[in-house]
Amino acid sequence: MSIHLEGEVSDKYVLPEDVSITKMASKKFEGWKILYDGKSAGYVKFYFKEDDVFQKHVTIDFKVPIPLRGRHIGRIALAKAIDKSTYTIFVAHLRGSNVASKRSLESIGFVLFDYPGSRQLCLLYKKEEGNN
Ligand SMILES: CC(C)(COP(=O)(O)OP(=O)(O)OC[C@H]1O[C@@H](n2cnc3c(N)ncnc32)[C@H](O)[C@@H]1OP(=O)(O)O)[C@@H](O)C(=O)NCCC(=O)NCCS
Repeated sequence: MSIHLEGEVSDKYVLPEDVSITKMASKKFEGWKILYDGKSAGYVKFYFKEDDVFQKHVTIDFKVPIPLRGRHIGRIALAKAIDKSTYTIFVAHLRGSNVASKRSLESIGFVLFDYPGSRQLCLLYKKEEGNN
């Protein structure tokens, strides 16, 4: 997955090399702690699911502490976690009002998906050979 940072370079946004992820130990999810400049900056978690729409896939939960938002830390960490993951289908279910998450996900290649019967926004990313 390429970490495509939209727009011009700005002091507001962090550099991908300043964000790192370290694996969390859990049997319930595949997760990473986010580190920015060596300090704790949230998490990325993938929950394994199976349904009739995507079959085997993971749903995403990622979060950055409020004071660190607006700097693209979350999307950089998520892109790095997807690169490291052995899973191939990544799905996010969001409330329609969650504009920041939608923007963040779309900027790294997620696309809107019309999930049958859902009133939430659904965004999808499929990792393919040559696509990561
Ligand atoms: C989702 C999350 C991790 C994204 O982190 P991130 O990639 O670092 O996102 P940023 O805060 O840097 O960027 C959000 C973008 O949405 C924009 N934005 C934020 N609120 C907005 C709003 N109400 N309306 C329009 N745009 C908004 C920001 O300006 C920014 O735009 P940019 O891409 O032009 O820079 C972070 O927003 C978060 O922790 N949210 C709370 C938890 C959550 O909802 N998680 C998702 C569940 S799957």
